Amino acid sequence: MTTKPAVRIDPSRSALKDQLNLWSPHDSAKLYRVEEWGAGYFGVTPRGTLGVYPDTDPTKCIDLYDVALGLAARDLTPPVIVRFPGILQHRMGNIRRVFDKAIAELGYRGKYHCLYPIKVNQERHVCEAIRTFGYDLGFGLEVGSKPELLAGLALTQGMNGMPLVCNGFKDAEYLELVTLAAKMGRNIIPVVEQAHELNLISRSARAHNVVPRFGIRAKLAAAGVGRWAGSSGYRGKFGLTVGEILHSVDHLRANDMISGFHLLHCHMGSQVFDIRAVKAMVSELAHLYVALRRAGAPIEAIDIGGGLGVDYDGTQSATGSSINYTLEQYAADVLYRVQSICDEAGVPHPNVMSESGRALIAHSSVVVCEVIGSRVFPGRPDQKLLDAALAQEQPPQPLLDAVDAYHQRNGDDLLGAYADAEHALAEATTLFSLGYMDLNARAACEEIYWAMGKAVLDAYGDELPEDLSSLPDQLADLYFLNLSIFQSLLDSWGIEQLFPVMPIHRLGEEPTRRGILADITCDSDGKVDQFPGEWGAKTTLELHESEPGSEPGVGGEKPYYLAFFLTGAYQETLGDLHNLLGDTHAVHVTVGPDGRWRIDTVVEGDTVREVLSYVQFDPDEMRVQLRHDLESALQAERLTLAEGASFRRFLDDSLQGYTYLE
Ligand SMILES: Cc1ncc(COP(=O)(O)O)c(C=O)c1O
Repeated sequence: MTTKPAVRIDPSRSALKDQLNLWSPHDSAKLYRVEEWGAGYFGVTPRGTLGVYPDTDPTKCIDLYDVALGLAARDLTPPVIVRFPGILQHRMGNIRRVFDKAIAELGYRGKYHCLYPIKVNQERHVCEAIRTFGYDLGFGLEVGSKPELLAGLALTQGMNGMPLVCNGFKDAEYLELVTLAAKMGRNIIPVVEQAHELNLISRSARAHNVVPRFGIRAKLAAAGVGRWAGSSGYRGKFGLTVGEILHSVDHLRANDMISGFHLLHCHMGSQVFDIRAVKAMVSELAHLYVALRRAGAPIEAIDIGGGLGVDYDGTQSATGSSINYTLEQYAADVLYRVQSICDEAGVPHPNVMSESGRALIAHSSVVVCEVIGSRVFPGRPDQKLLDAALAQEQPPQPLLDAVDAYHQRNGDDLLGAYADAEHALAEATTLFSLGYMDLNARAACEEIYWAMGKAVLDAYGDELPEDLSSLPDQLADLYFLNLSIFQSLLDSWGIEQLFPVMPIHRLGEEPTRRGILADITCDSDGKVDQFPGEWGAKTTLELHESEPGSEPGVGGEKPYYLAFFLTGAYQETLGDLHNLLGDTHAVHVTVGPDGRWRIDTVVEGDTVREVLSYVQFDPDEMRVQLRHDLESALQAERLTLAEGASFRRFLDDSLQGYTYLE
């Protein structure tokens, strides 16, 4: 086995770089790879802050750091979701433009509609924005359950023509509502996911004397890729096999319902990262469409479901947090395949629908949070500790070895000295466990080992020998965030999805630390230790040292803000109440006519009172009980009256307060 030669950095070189302050905002943009994942919506401003460009025009910039400070000044302290409706509108317009262009270039003779799947983010303000922007763009909505159906009907009120496609398991009540809504004039289409739903549809249509309009979801052989591959293929939960569809067509013909078969649907899972899988799925669906048209089904549209992915890590690769295609390729490939298969068969081009949720909305939300402290391994052993450990009559041999290694740290053989310190620590922990070493000696060996590790990292930087490649992770700092991963970034924990994350200020300053991020839940899984890197995930993030004069802790004089990007899809509604940390504040930020940012909508996060009642505690009853307890303590003189008043104030303020640290 060959090992990479270690290259020791010339210390005068980095010192000179520091002195000349050669780091620029441009270096930060490169380091955090903003251009790669930002899709034109994010960049680094010349003042070293994070800029948001809602319509990809850097001259119309919203300074995210300014926004964070402005929100904090309005008592909307982080964590806070900052939504940019301008980005959403631009994404929607872009999908429209790209499909229109592909339609024109190919001479495709059908239309394209994008349906927003409400499940991706059901927040009312988000859905309303999509409905409003989408109306003129020919967009529609997709719903997957009874509550979503009601939300969809409410959202499309007064917009009868807006397509509303209903997926998911359905009962008689669900389908009854759909039939009545159709009778009211809504452009609503239930999609049959289970064969028996056809009977429910026909029963309800007969009862209300209407001709039903419906779609059928096909269970295709083409398998998806990645995390949600199980949504497609024969073992998929939804849809009818080709055999079941043929059987249904016979049944529909026999019952005079074939004229209602308007839509052929499929969905191959979310975040389909490989364009080859999209092509295979669309080809199979198009052939099925042709065969069903020939069998007499008057299908007008095919719905290719979701799956259009997002390049979260900016690597443009066929990997879980990326995609190996562009929106332009997606549109052209889908339409070209359908067109060529239809043309060969002499069958009309169907309208094409996609239920693209993630790609539509991911970029438009950012989670801003504050670092509330850090844990850093010491760069040198504590002298007092060392003196105390060495003061004993016969210091243990591992301690003497560790101290000896430490004295060699500036010599020619730093790597050898590091290996000695590592060996000494291993022996020290064994001796300690056997009861032959005291606490001081063990702690001193640990601190020496960490200091030696740091010395190696400083000396070799990115040129570490291969056998020490895990050292940066071992010695990474731990930065604590006032945030719950389980509430705000569930997919980071649940499916190890990468989200871009970086500081939103101090970007003109070199980040000299490397760390991982931990949240404030009492769960050791509440951390982020995978970050988008040039070659996929990297295990530490470059961060800034706390500024001189800044107070560590919440509300410090100089807060250090980080933001997670591309969080608009799924994270808000999948988030849970782990540790009763509730919904965060959310705001909508746009650019006003004067070119300055402004807050259009504020949705305040959950209060402690609210989250307690979600889990069936009665905050008023709790208050009465605790006050009763307090009175007993006052009478027994365990608390003074002043302490009692302060307890009462704390109790009342806490119940009304934010669930995060304030
Ligand atoms: C039926 C259906 N359509 C659309 C979507 C949205 O997919 P995406 O967010 O990948 O666009 C989903 C989500 O999994 C879905 O189940």
